[in-house]
Amino acid sequence: MAEALRIKPAKGKLGVLTPGMGAVSSTFIAGVEAIRHGLRLPIGSLTQMGHIRLGKRTEGRQPLVRNFVPLAELSELVFGGWDIFEDNVYESCQKAGVLDRYLIEELKPVLEKIEPMSAVFDNYYVKKLDGPHVKKGTSKIALAEALREDITNFRKANGCDRVVLIWCGSTEIYLKRSDVHQSLATFEKGLTDNDPDIAPSMIYAYAALKEGIPYANGAPNLSADIPALDELAKQTGAPTCGKDFKTGQTLMKTILSPGFKARLLGINGWFSTNILGNRDGEVLDDPESFKTKEESKLGVLGSILQPELYPDLYGNLFHKVRINYYPPRGDNKEGWDNIDIFGWLGMPMQIKVDFLCRDSILAAPLVLDLALLLDLAKRANLAGIQEWLSFYFKSPVVPPELYPEHDLFIQQTKLKNTLRWMMGEEQITHLGREYYDH
Ligand SMILES: NC(=O)c1ccc[n+]([C@@H]2O[C@H](COP(=O)([O-])OP(=O)(O)OC[C@H]3O[C@@H](n4cnc5c(N)ncnc54)[C@H](O)[C@@H]3O)[C@@H](O)[C@H]2O)c1
Repeated sequence: MAEALRIKPAKGKLGVLTPGMGAVSSTFIAGVEAIRHGLRLPIGSLTQMGHIRLGKRTEGRQPLVRNFVPLAELSELVFGGWDIFEDNVYESCQKAGVLDRYLIEELKPVLEKIEPMSAVFDNYYVKKLDGPHVKKGTSKIALAEALREDITNFRKANGCDRVVLIWCGSTEIYLKRSDVHQSLATFEKGLTDNDPDIAPSMIYAYAALKEGIPYANGAPNLSADIPALDELAKQTGAPTCGKDFKTGQTLMKTILSPGFKARLLGINGWFSTNILGNRDGEVLDDPESFKTKEESKLGVLGSILQPELYPDLYGNLFHKVRINYYPPRGDNKEGWDNIDIFGWLGMPMQIKVDFLCRDSILAAPLVLDLALLLDLAKRANLAGIQEWLSFYFKSPVVPPELYPEHDLFIQQTKLKNTLRWMMGEEQITHLGREYYDH
């Protein structure tokens, strides 16, 4: 057996802080509370319900992931965060309208105690939003300091041994990497000079990483995905990952397209359209925020299908993604896909997918898994980009010389093999000759 990594035990409380306490964050927090109270099951969470095979198929070793790697217990989690609105988590759940009212009422005593801290926010970066619960600061560096103080105070007030930060805030406008993002020195100067290329999500990421705290980004904006913050993460020993939770339509895309490619079925066109009516939908109604999301959603197919290797099958693929803000649906999004495929001798076929999904129901277990796995990574001394957590994201962050893996099943294998590697177990290659070579 290979040697296991030295992983510090998950002792004491783990604070989970989310910048942004809207639909996803409140559904996550209420969900964990419901599970802790024995009212519901953690469906959709790999860390809570998934098993992992170890060794040969004949050995029958398939423990639960949470019994295999040393994760924080759900009973040890403490929640907090920031928002531009003052709603506590009970009120936020009510407004989001994701969970059933009876459940929210039952959890009211715990949820109403969780109140957001005042946010670092600038309406320039999220055009459709404005709120009163915002920090006043003269410079971005002062705002970063204020966030670091918030984290320290939260940690003390709640007796937390460790903390992780997961961005569940709105999608910011599209920003390109620029000079200020290239090194920690230029970034820190940019914070002092109030450089407009430093968005609020980058200030949160900076504050967390400066404290050596793991940071994940659930939205498509750059946030920690810049060389300056990668440098900082490595310097302070903080693991990072992102971007954009893989839920809904893109989840379906990364489940279906690897299957078509495996069977060498061609694709001419993939038209995706959505209606959704939550606050996220409203923010994405702004063309600048939509552009950030569109980039993230469009990248997936090209990378899975590799048209440069398969020009006859995917060289002419027309891929279109639309998001339409439609208030009557609230968080209950409907996503349609029309897929024009072709088979043997080029004969055309069509596939239609109509996914009546619940966005935050799909996202909440990802927040839980990311909090627990990033905390594990931190205790295992893994710093910087954690590509094995690509499984959870639409736009996985990778170093500049690599292309991201979007195929959900490759991502799953990578994640599980990383857990086996951490614990000194053999990698599973699925070759399987050992069962036949006697
Ligand atoms: N729900 C999903 O399935 C899903 C999937 C992928 C990505 N996302 C992304 O996750 C994020 C959260 O989604 P949601 O449905 O909870 O949206 P939401 O609008 O309900 O919640 C976002 C919250 O962030 C707050 N916010 C915005 N800027 C902030 C800042 N600078 N500091 C603190 N708070 C801030 C807003 O006030 C709002 O309450 C969005 O960016 C969304 O695009 C969601």
